[in-house]
Amino acid sequence: MARDFVYVEELGEHVGERVTLKGWLSRKRSSGKVKFLVLRDGTGLLQCVAFVRDTSAELFERCDRIPLESSIAVAGRVRRDDRAPGGFELGIEDLRVLHEAAEFPIQPKEHGVEFLFDHRHLHLRSRTPHAILRVRSEVVRACRDFFHERRFVLIDSPVLTPAACEGTTTLFETDYFGRKAYLTQSGQLYLEPACMAFGRVYCMGPTFRAEKSKTRRHLTEFWMIEPEVAFLEFPGLLELAEEFVSYVVARALDVCREDLKVLDRDTSKLESVRPPFPRLPYDEAARLLTTPESQARMAAAGAPPFAAGNDFGAFDETLLTESADRPVMVTHWPAAIKAFYMQPDEADPSRALCVDVLAPEGYGEIIGGSERIHDHDLLLGRIREHGLPVEAFQWYLDIRKYGTVPHSGFGMGVERCVTWICGVPHLRDAIPYPRQIHRLYP
Ligand code: 4AD
Ligand code: MG
Repeated sequence: MARDFVYVEELGEHVGERVTLKGWLSRKRSSGKVKFLVLRDGTGLLQCVAFVRDTSAELFERCDRIPLESSIAVAGRVRRDDRAPGGFELGIEDLRVLHEAAEFPIQPKEHGVEFLFDHRHLHLRSRTPHAILRVRSEVVRACRDFFHERRFVLIDSPVLTPAACEGTTTLFETDYFGRKAYLTQSGQLYLEPACMAFGRVYCMGPTFRAEKSKTRRHLTEFWMIEPEVAFLEFPGLLELAEEFVSYVVARALDVCREDLKVLDRDTSKLESVRPPFPRLPYDEAARLLTTPESQARMAAAGAPPFAAGNDFGAFDETLLTESADRPVMVTHWPAAIKAFYMQPDEADPSRALCVDVLAPEGYGEIIGGSERIHDHDLLLGRIREHGLPVEAFQWYLDIRKYGTVPHSGFGMGVERCVTWICGVPHLRDAIPYPRQIHRLYP
């Protein structure tokens, strides 16, 4: 790709040379005989300096009049300077304003969250979102690499679907030429047939849940990466999940050091993330959450009390992971509160062979997965018990008619994983353009 300029991240190769850079004016200050312009080009920041004795009076004066966020091209010589951000400085020899910006709505002061997300299209230029979204980009790449290195085949699943995967209360319904269609909640149902064709498969894409409550852990549109493997049984699934999460975290630590520093992330908390992750059966978790001490802490925190047999609340997840240095895998949940497709435990059929992986430090559930029911009649019974329309699942039942085998898979929410790795509390920060119950703009 031919270009007539260099990027800030390439400056190390150009020390002492005269180069041109293109970007946006992110900060400026002047002190009598010298002007400082900070150029931001997406790969980094560069302090550009004009001295009154080295530049024309006209250029020197022009520096002051350029509005912030104008697009500019600067030319000059690259110097090493350990005091400058990024370690380099440019002596300005020429400066062109490519487009003079109108007054930028985001100023270097405190803005409210709603204001920033109303201006998300401009907010992306700020340091924090920029760092988080770069981490996200690397996390997604690591997810794909993990599966390709293990010879999984990518099988994209459809977004428009005739059936529900994760319960009917969070379905987004849409009109499909006079019929009802739903935005997908998970690609899982489509991966199961694919793993019978390809062995090991994965998908990754946007998934949708009409979450009617406003929490910091829920988006209505989020991205999920889901593997599905034929002949994989429950213990193997747990191993796959812990290897996967450890791989992704190690990559972020390796590649995203600078971004995690911008975010002030205490990375020592991530260094210990490696297999094996502790396995915590649901009944044991429920026992821990119902001790008088735990119940007292819930009450003190104003959190609803946990009762055995129920799903965990955010505070419960925090209690269960507070002393862990790596994610905790809660297994063998009551089948009654989990999805219809989960294989019952042979030893106690009231329990499902499923797992929720809870991130440490209270970041909540990052993965949900299970072994799948592979017996046709058992699955048919479950579909009926859950009040789901059998016709819409005929194709899914077919998989259990032609050489059915045990198989397992999981889904990881990309934003849940990114918020944990970045150490940011709210999922809306971990996606470029968040969609929540009250947010569809920009
Ligand atoms: O636990 P869930 O509902 O599992 C499934 O959808 C399975 N069908 C996946 C599978 O086995 N292939 O969702 C999986 C993950 C959760 O652990 C969480 O990380 C994320 O998706 N997630 C959400 N992320 C953001 N906003 C929401 N509303 C989410 N709901 C689930
Ligand atoms: Mg779940």
